Amino acid sequence: SSYEYIKVEKKGKNGCVQLIQLNRPKALNALCNALLMELGDSLRAGEADESVAAFVLTGSERSFAAGADIKEMQDMTLQGCIKNQFLSNWDVLAKVRKPVIAAVNGYALGGGCEIAMMCDIIFAGEKAKFGQPEINLGTIPGAGGTQRLIRAVGKSLAMEMCLSGLPIDAKKALSFGLVSRVCPPDKLVDEAIQLGEKIAQQSKLIVSICKDAVNSSYELGLQEGLKCEKRLFYTTFGTEDRREGMTAFVEKRAPKFVEN
Ligand code: HXC
Repeated sequence: SSYEYIKVEKKGKNGCVQLIQLNRPKALNALCNALLMELGDSLRAGEADESVAAFVLTGSERSFAAGADIKEMQDMTLQGCIKNQFLSNWDVLAKVRKPVIAAVNGYALGGGCEIAMMCDIIFAGEKAKFGQPEINLGTIPGAGGTQRLIRAVGKSLAMEMCLSGLPIDAKKALSFGLVSRVCPPDKLVDEAIQLGEKIAQQSKLIVSICKDAVNSSYELGLQEGLKCEKRLFYTTFGTEDRREGMTAFVEKRAPKFVEN
């Protein structure tokens, strides 16, 4: 591929999983603007590619991403942040329609922890470290660290992490529900790809409706969320794949899903 700061590869059966590896090793995958642009481009390309059912986002064994690029931010001003809408290009990841699995080895700090939390599922390697160390730099998280973290781990631990800057390890991240699986570092990416392959066997259309429904619980209160779920559930009855799924069950055969 023609990228400088990421590597993109098709993995899994028929290339159904798009693996995006952050690849700026000298800076521990600090998230410079150019890297974010490339990440956005690769996600848009994967969204448009009908053979891709899911993304896996990973870094290196040493570092998933050590945060936004501090050297790029060093001389920035309030006026500049507003004028250039600093960080607005980070939203692409949070808005992807297809499922994204983060496979986090090593450091996921600051913006690195925040982009992991923009993903739908996080798997961690045993030596992963999650943290929001912005406070050490005289700033605060700016891409969801004060918002998504509290929903993942609760107020006390989120406050502890954001106010002290101290990271947590994979075991703690698992016990608080920030991640759903901890694996040996060298097995991590394969496990994430395998989950992507499993998801790829489902209807792409229904998977995206389901992702949308689960995400609505993030944004809405319970009653609104339940209403939204009901509407999306009803929506599945307008699809071929819903008919196929239930017919296949009744006919005791595997379903053949076709909708994208
Ligand atoms: C720019 C970074 C960087 C970063 C590491 N590097 N993190 N450059 N931005 N966030 C660079 C270092 O400058 C160094 O380059 C090289 O990577 C290796 O890092 P070392 O510090 O020498 O490695 P080590 O001693 O192993 O320590 C690893 C580390 C430490 C604990 C991860 O690098 C660290 O504390 N990094 C900063 C983490 C952080 O504060 N992240 C939050 C950023 S703020 P040179 O060229 O000097 O060798 C943020 C704001 C988010 O994310 C707001 C919204 C997105």
